[in-house]
Amino acid sequence: MTKPDADSTVPPRWLEVASTAEIQRRKMIVVDAGELDIVVGWHEDRPYAMANICVHRDRELARGMIFQDRLVCPGHQWAFDIDNGYCRERDRWQPIYRTELRDDMVYVDASAPISISSETAVAAPRSASESAT
Ligand code: FES
Repeated sequence: MTKPDADSTVPPRWLEVASTAEIQRRKMIVVDAGELDIVVGWHEDRPYAMANICVHRDRELARGMIFQDRLVCPGHQWAFDIDNGYCRERDRWQPIYRTELRDDMVYVDASAPISISSETAVAAPRSASESAT
Protein backbone atom coordinates (compact mmCIF):
# COMPACT_ATOMS: atom_id res chain seq x y z
CA MET A 1 0.00 0.00 0.00
CA THR A 2 1.27 3.45 -0.84
CA LYS A 3 0.34 6.74 0.74
CA PRO A 4 -0.19 10.18 -0.75
CA ASP A 5 2.62 12.65 -1.02
CA ALA A 6 2.41 15.63 1.27
CA ASP A 7 4.62 18.54 2.07
CA SER A 8 4.05 19.81 5.59
CA THR A 9 6.41 22.74 4.97
CA VAL A 10 3.94 24.37 2.57
CA PRO A 11 1.96 27.20 4.24
CA PRO A 12 -1.84 26.82 4.14
CA ARG A 13 -3.76 28.46 1.31
CA TRP A 14 -7.35 28.72 2.50
CA LEU A 15 -10.01 29.29 -0.14
CA GLU A 16 -13.56 30.26 0.74
CA VAL A 17 -15.97 27.71 -0.76
CA ALA A 18 -19.52 28.58 0.27
CA SER A 19 -21.82 28.73 3.25
CA THR A 20 -22.72 25.46 4.92
CA ALA A 21 -26.30 25.90 3.74
CA GLU A 22 -25.16 26.30 0.13
CA ILE A 23 -22.92 23.21 0.23
CA GLN A 24 -25.64 21.17 1.91
CA ARG A 25 -28.09 22.26 -0.78
CA ARG A 26 -25.75 21.56 -3.72
CA LYS A 27 -24.02 18.49 -2.10
CA MET A 28 -20.76 19.19 -3.99
CA ILE A 29 -19.04 22.31 -5.25
CA VAL A 30 -15.96 22.39 -7.49
CA VAL A 31 -13.37 24.94 -6.42
CA ASP A 32 -10.84 26.29 -8.92
CA ALA A 33 -7.61 26.09 -6.96
CA GLY A 34 -5.37 27.17 -9.82
CA GLU A 35 -3.43 24.17 -11.01
CA LEU A 36 -6.21 21.79 -9.99
CA ASP A 37 -9.88 21.65 -9.12
CA ILE A 38 -11.01 20.47 -5.71
CA VAL A 39 -14.45 19.04 -5.10
CA VAL A 40 -15.82 20.11 -1.73
CA GLY A 41 -18.86 18.30 -0.45
CA TRP A 42 -21.02 17.91 2.58
CA HIS A 43 -21.87 14.52 4.02
CA GLU A 44 -23.94 14.01 7.14
CA ASP A 45 -22.58 16.67 9.49
CA ARG A 46 -19.25 17.62 7.95
CA PRO A 47 -17.44 18.92 4.87
CA TYR A 48 -14.86 16.94 2.93
CA ALA A 49 -12.57 17.81 0.02
CA MET A 50 -10.77 15.81 -2.67
CA ALA A 51 -8.99 16.48 -5.92
CA ASN A 52 -11.80 16.57 -8.46
CA ILE A 53 -10.03 14.54 -11.13
CA CYS A 54 -9.94 10.82 -10.38
CA VAL A 55 -6.52 9.20 -9.99
CA HIS A 56 -7.68 6.37 -12.22
CA ARG A 57 -8.65 7.86 -15.57
CA ASP A 58 -9.39 11.53 -15.15
CA ARG A 59 -13.15 11.50 -14.62
CA GLU A 60 -14.71 14.20 -12.46
CA LEU A 61 -15.56 13.03 -8.96
CA ALA A 62 -18.03 15.91 -8.68
CA ARG A 63 -20.24 13.88 -11.01
CA GLY A 64 -20.11 10.93 -8.63
CA MET A 65 -22.13 10.13 -5.56
CA ILE A 66 -21.61 9.37 -1.90
CA PHE A 67 -22.20 5.81 -0.77
CA GLN A 68 -21.31 4.55 2.71
CA ASP A 69 -19.01 7.49 3.49
CA ARG A 70 -17.16 7.08 0.22
CA LEU A 71 -17.22 9.20 -2.92
CA VAL A 72 -17.87 6.88 -5.85
CA CYS A 73 -16.31 7.91 -9.15
CA PRO A 74 -18.72 7.89 -12.10
CA GLY A 75 -16.02 6.44 -14.35
CA HIS A 76 -15.45 2.94 -13.02
CA GLN A 77 -16.96 3.15 -9.55
CA TRP A 78 -13.80 3.31 -7.53
CA ALA A 79 -14.93 4.45 -4.07
CA PHE A 80 -12.73 6.85 -2.11
CA ASP A 81 -13.17 7.25 1.64
CA ILE A 82 -14.08 10.90 2.22
CA ASP A 83 -11.92 11.03 5.36
CA ASN A 84 -8.68 9.68 3.93
CA GLY A 85 -9.09 9.31 0.16
CA TYR A 86 -8.36 5.59 0.23
CA CYS A 87 -9.96 3.14 -2.19
CA ARG A 88 -9.51 -0.17 -0.43
CA GLU A 89 -10.56 -2.32 -3.39
CA ARG A 90 -7.82 -0.82 -5.59
CA ASP A 91 -5.31 0.17 -2.91
CA ARG A 92 -5.13 3.66 -4.37
CA TRP A 93 -5.36 7.13 -2.86
CA GLN A 94 -7.29 10.12 -4.09
CA PRO A 95 -5.69 13.32 -2.75
CA ILE A 96 -7.77 14.91 0.01
CA TYR A 97 -7.61 18.40 1.47
CA ARG A 98 -8.27 20.01 4.82
CA THR A 99 -11.56 21.78 5.34
CA GLU A 100 -12.56 24.20 8.03
CA LEU A 101 -15.75 25.89 9.21
CA ARG A 102 -15.56 29.57 10.10
CA ASP A 103 -18.69 31.54 10.91
CA ASP A 104 -20.85 29.14 8.93
CA MET A 105 -18.58 29.32 5.88
CA VAL A 106 -16.62 26.35 4.55
CA TYR A 107 -12.97 26.80 3.59
CA VAL A 108 -10.56 24.40 1.92
CA ASP A 109 -6.78 24.45 2.24
CA ALA A 110 -5.60 24.13 -1.36
CA SER A 111 -1.90 24.28 -0.51
CA ALA A 112 -1.25 20.53 -0.45
CA PRO A 113 -3.05 17.23 0.10
CA ILE A 114 -3.38 15.94 3.63
CA SER A 115 -0.88 13.29 4.66
CA ILE A 116 -2.59 10.08 5.76
CA SER A 117 -0.61 7.14 7.03
CA SER A 118 -1.52 3.79 5.57
CA GLU A 119 -1.68 2.37 9.10
CA THR A 120 -4.35 4.90 10.13
CA ALA A 121 -6.43 4.29 7.02
CA VAL A 122 -6.46 0.54 7.49
CA ALA A 123 -6.93 0.56 11.25
CA ALA A 124 -9.97 2.80 11.31
CA PRO A 125 -13.02 1.25 9.64
CA ARG A 126 -15.87 3.74 9.54
CA SER A 127 -18.56 1.48 10.95
CA ALA A 128 -19.18 -1.98 12.31
CA SER A 129 -20.94 -3.00 9.10
CA GLU A 130 -17.97 -1.94 6.96
CA SER A 131 -15.48 -3.73 9.16
CA ALA A 132 -17.43 -6.95 8.65
CA THR A 133 -17.32 -6.70 4.84
S1 FES B 1 -11.97 7.22 -13.77
FE1 FES B 1 -12.50 7.12 -11.68
S2 FES B 1 -12.70 5.00 -11.35
FE2 FES B 1 -12.05 5.11 -13.39
